[in-house]
Amino acid sequence: MSGALRVRSADRPLTGTTTVPGDKSLGHRALLLSALADGSSTIRGFPGGADVRATLGAMRALGASIDWDGGDTVRVEGRGLELGVGVDATLDCANSGTTMRLAAGLVAAVPGRRKLDGDASLRRRPMERVAEPLRRMGARIDTTAGRAPLTIDGAALVGVACTLEVASAQVKSALLLAGLRAKGTTRVVEPLATRDHTERMLRHMGVPVVVEDLAVAVTGGHRLAPLDVTLPGDPSSAAFLVVAALLVPGSRLRVTGVGTNPRRTGALEILRRMGARITIEDATDEAGEPCGAVVVEHAPLHGTTIAPDEIPGAIDELPILAVAAAFAEGETRVTGAAELRVKESDRIAALEQLGPLGVAFEPTRDGFVVRGRPDTTITGGTIATHGDHRIAMAFAVAGLRSLEGVTIDEPRCADVSFPRFFDRLGALGARVDTPEGT
Ligand code: S3P
Repeated sequence: MSGALRVRSADRPLTGTTTVPGDKSLGHRALLLSALADGSSTIRGFPGGADVRATLGAMRALGASIDWDGGDTVRVEGRGLELGVGVDATLDCANSGTTMRLAAGLVAAVPGRRKLDGDASLRRRPMERVAEPLRRMGARIDTTAGRAPLTIDGAALVGVACTLEVASAQVKSALLLAGLRAKGTTRVVEPLATRDHTERMLRHMGVPVVVEDLAVAVTGGHRLAPLDVTLPGDPSSAAFLVVAALLVPGSRLRVTGVGTNPRRTGALEILRRMGARITIEDATDEAGEPCGAVVVEHAPLHGTTIAPDEIPGAIDELPILAVAAAFAEGETRVTGAAELRVKESDRIAALEQLGPLGVAFEPTRDGFVVRGRPDTTITGGTIATHGDHRIAMAFAVAGLRSLEGVTIDEPRCADVSFPRFFDRLGALGARVDTPEGT
């Protein structure tokens, strides 16, 4: 277990003003769409985590020239709608479902053979959900028994009308990206509203996107103007710091420059309903995306019911909401969240590790029930992250209210979305150390 880190009970409030890395979802889209644009794009606030690095590598493999020195700013020389034409390549999507699903749409209409592969976690995740609707547009995609690796031979695509069964921004985005190089109009109807970053960014780059309730349509052939953006901070990353402040008495945190797109702030709404005092200050707008400072202070929480239609807006925050619920008065119940079982890990199964820490956690087929105790500290112990960044960070926050500390076996996986997360937690006042004997 070399490299393990332990988070111990906080002996002082978490205070101060901080930031979080740029939004991961926006980082992927900024790279993909800049590569597809005509001319030079500048992306500031680039998160730099492993997932967006995978997308960066994939765009380079398709022929985009990308200048990145590991810092905050990325420059992309787009190849226009000719991106990837005639290029046979293997795209290593690493741990990133967004890279794989969006790239599948991006290359489906482009002459050449592409193989899309990833790590053991990504190879377990469902890919027919994106392959099947793309095939209806004419794409030639083979999956490996429904999963990665995928082989895609570019084919002429025709726009179709498609009603999705799963609420997935990744699948919606894949179809819209394919639609950019398809003949006619591609129309996607989703069962519940999911994050709309692709739609917003396409519009910002000059592509007319027609939105009508839960339907989104794009017509092929429009050329994309280059981007010049500063990405807002990732609200999903901010959620870990917000819950940390809520759990430690006396805490007050201000996280500046965070994305506040209403399709991403479901967790903040749920936490407010649980009794949290969270305000958004200095609201502004960056390239069609709202953002602001998230200000939070410690407050007693109570349990709540999270309904199926709230799930897409809080999908990535459900692990940290489970931790908040453990210290809330009464019961918190989540239903309609079966998608948690096919994320970077089976997150419902991973959250069962709350049980041995002393939390009354009950998994269900499509969610969980937590019976919280506001005045409690949990015991502590060692957590297997299964390489899942959000499981690592959620349990790290639980450590702030533990008797013996919570040890995270593979803390480095947090780098997928939040590079230097443990340093950030420490800088705000948390006790993070290396446990003896590791
Ligand atoms: C993402 C969409 C969500 C989310 C993932 C990022 C995106 O997945 O869980 O972390 O950037 O589009 P689904 O769209 O598959 O639910």
